[in-house]
Amino acid sequence: MALMNHSSYSRPRLNRSSLIVPLSNRKFIEKAHLRGADSITLDLEDGVASNAKADARAALADAIPMVSRGGAWIKVRVNRRLDLLVEDLRAAVIGGVACIGIAKTDSAGHVRLVAELIGELERERGLPIGAIRLAASIETPQALQRAHEIATADMRLMSIGLGSLDLAAACGFEAVPETLLYPKQMVFYAAKAAGLECGGFIGSIADYTDLDGLREVIRESKKFGFRGGGAIHPNQVKVLNEEYGPSREQIDNARTIIDLAEAAFAEGKGAFAYKGKMVDKPVIDAARETLTLAATIAEHEAKVQQLLINEH
Ligand code: COA
Ligand code: MG
Repeated sequence: MALMNHSSYSRPRLNRSSLIVPLSNRKFIEKAHLRGADSITLDLEDGVASNAKADARAALADAIPMVSRGGAWIKVRVNRRLDLLVEDLRAAVIGGVACIGIAKTDSAGHVRLVAELIGELERERGLPIGAIRLAASIETPQALQRAHEIATADMRLMSIGLGSLDLAAACGFEAVPETLLYPKQMVFYAAKAAGLECGGFIGSIADYTDLDGLREVIRESKKFGFRGGGAIHPNQVKVLNEEYGPSREQIDNARTIIDLAEAAFAEGKGAFAYKGKMVDKPVIDAARETLTLAATIAEHEAKVQQLLINEH
């Protein structure tokens, strides 16, 4: 079997915000492409009531071209219960789906089972083998203890994250930044050690009307290394994009650092001072990353503008 290797996977590049859209809600689907999210998570799991799962699956294929009209890439969140999972994957392993989100990931075995089912469906349907990536959500204390084995379970994984509300419910704590810091960091380091992205932020997305609170939480989370998160409401998308994208000041600083670095290197110096602080390789690398991200965002935003103009 010709499985694609790690470097040949197409890694979706922008991941500041993912709008979670329950597939049972036609009204949400119709306008989801106008909300500015980098990706759309089409939900078959807890956003969809048990008696609506079949209809939600049936709505998936048509929803994909609709929600991607504004340039967002697509993730589908599938159920933990195995009978539902198999049906969900039958619906979700189709063209246009970039990633499957595994809800309530239990273990490395759970990830590999999903990967195996996806592989079989890709083969059966003539889709490129290995093209669909995985994002695993850790939502129980048991899975949290297995974060490292989950993160290294399969080459399809692109990110892992912690499901704040579900972990809080399973453990009986309140989903607030101070209680979430430790489990979020456990998942963060498991992700980093495996070379994966870590989804989410050190807070919960449930309080969707408190946008100032969300902004504060994301600013804090960014300091800890978090780089993108989910939104349950369109108003949260703007805050995620603004805060996880580099600010004007960060872009200007990064440009200056790169200019100063070139001058310093020309003199054989690896380190120099900028605004009273020492700058050397890791800071220069971070400045390059900031500029790359800013360029990717600018390119994406121009593409989105064009797509939306063409639509009208
Ligand atoms: N995706 C797409 N559109 C959404 C949306 C979502 N998740 N949530 C709200 N919208 C739309 C509404 O349709 C409305 O559109 P309109 O103004 O163009 O008519 C607009 O955004 C404003 O919505 P609002 O009236 O403020 O919210 P609501 O009362 O309709 O819904 C929630 C509030 C929390 C019930 C709703 O946002 C929701 O169901 N979110 C998803 C929850 C979920 O998936 N949970 C499980 C995963 S963690
Ligand atoms: Mg949940």
